[in-house]
Amino acid sequence: MLVKTYGSAIQGIDAIIITIEVNISKGSKFFLVGLPDNAVKESHHRLVAVINNIGYKYPGRRIVINMAPANIKKEGSSYDLPIAIAILAASKQIKDILLTNYIMMGELSLDGSIRAVNGALSMALKAKEDGFKGIIVPLENANEASVVDGIDVYGFKHITEVIDLLNGKSNAKVTISQAENLLEKNTSYPFNIEDVKGQKNIKRALEIAAAGGHNIIMIGPPGSGKTMLAKRIPSILPPLTLDEALETTKIHSVAGILPRGNAIVSARPYRSPHHTISDAGLVGGGTYPKPGEISLAQNGVLFLDELPEFKRTVLEVMRQPMEDRLVTISRARVTVDYPASFMLVAAMNPCPCGYYNHPEKDCVCSPGNVQNYLNRISGPLMDRIDLHVEVTPVAFDDLSTKSSGESSNKIRPRVIIARNIQKERFEKAGNIYCNSQMSSKDIANYCMLNSNGKTLLKLAMEKLNLSARAYDRIIKVSRTIADLGASKDIKNDHLAEAIQYRSLDRDNWGS
Ligand SMILES: Nc1ncnc2c1ncn2[C@@H]1O[C@H](COP(=O)(O)OP(=O)(O)OP(=O)(O)O)[C@@H](O)[C@H]1O
Ligand SMILES: [Mg+2]
Ligand SMILES: [Zn+2]
Repeated sequence: MLVKTYGSAIQGIDAIIITIEVNISKGSKFFLVGLPDNAVKESHHRLVAVINNIGYKYPGRRIVINMAPANIKKEGSSYDLPIAIAILAASKQIKDILLTNYIMMGELSLDGSIRAVNGALSMALKAKEDGFKGIIVPLENANEASVVDGIDVYGFKHITEVIDLLNGKSNAKVTISQAENLLEKNTSYPFNIEDVKGQKNIKRALEIAAAGGHNIIMIGPPGSGKTMLAKRIPSILPPLTLDEALETTKIHSVAGILPRGNAIVSARPYRSPHHTISDAGLVGGGTYPKPGEISLAQNGVLFLDELPEFKRTVLEVMRQPMEDRLVTISRARVTVDYPASFMLVAAMNPCPCGYYNHPEKDCVCSPGNVQNYLNRISGPLMDRIDLHVEVTPVAFDDLSTKSSGESSNKIRPRVIIARNIQKERFEKAGNIYCNSQMSSKDIANYCMLNSNGKTLLKLAMEKLNLSARAYDRIIKVSRTIADLGASKDIKNDHLAEAIQYRSLDRDNWGS
């Protein structure tokens, strides 16, 4: 007898439906066709054990399993559940009438218990899109999948629960989504910007960066608080919208880093990969492509601490995705896209010893060493970083007396207002949401300078010997500063402040 069940495979961050056909006939061999990988092939032995262990009979006949479409590689052990169910139905040990209603996925332990899978949210979205009545997933994935409304989500711990449902003997309840609740509740971040004493000017720069979605680099000696400040940036960004939360959740789920049992990623991600990270680790890739850190940071912050310690090649592969807000991974068989829209925050020392230009300590580096150090970072990468700030340490003795300044909860509403102004501005432009994303054409459209401003900028460019590429950066940042001040026009003081944030633009960087 021929029976069909439905599972899913992930391509990029979206699911596609995999049909599992099982045919049982006379004979004795087992065939699995349709581009399964080794883990799927090995499922045979597991399934024999599971089916016997739960009190059913593994059919000792010729079993042919076909997984379609054949051109998609089926990876992992999460097809155990739909294959086992199909075998049981094809051998008439369970009813097959409800099988067309559900997509199901789950890895089975030998005793029949079901283990969690990756990508359950994408699977639920696909089930809805294709008109399935519901999905059957491991219990640990049920909260995540239940975010999608309009389909029945069943979370089960054991295969016998699935069998009961299909046999019409179950009183299992569908999982109800908690997503919107979670999103509303989760406005608390573990760190607050008021933990950082003093550093008023740096906090101002961070506020501007957050308001315009600008990339920022902090340069300063060891212990000046760069890492501390970076960790607090998510706390001043606007809360995630439901759409953003779903998008980030999909990526984390596909990558297998969504904490089990969690419904959605409700706080902006903060990713800080170590400088020894590989190309694939940063931008994504691998034999079975997986999203990299730039995608895991989607809608949040990617912090690259000790920037010059990263391999040049690793930083270079990040450039194109930063431009496109998307990374494309090509493999022999497939090309997948992962979203990569994040705010880059970088930190570095000014020189190898760290004390170049330090108010108290002496730098022991030769000019050549300093230059080599800066050369590790390419000009084109620096070009994608709108704000450069020099962080000077708060003297130890002053730490107790310096003021904490405003809390994150005070700063964040200003950021939100500025973001809303930008949303309105770019409503018609399509596909851009904040000032940092403006192209040269957008800048011409939205950032008119009066003749006074033009003169000021020209003068500054000459006097500070700024590179041509600094020009657009300054205008974008000044647009954000104007938005923070609710000013329709970019005024001279907005420009003047923006110019300050190019103080490091000395054409020292590598090519
Ligand atoms: N302004 C500050 N307010 C409160 N604590 C501070 C401040 N600056 C530094 N510290 C303290 O110093 C520690 C070191 O700061 P942090 O690690 O952020 O420095 P860093 O600039 O990242 O240094 P490195 O270059 O060595 O990575 C912090 O954990 C914090 O305890
Ligand atoms: Mg640090
Ligand atoms: Zn030095």
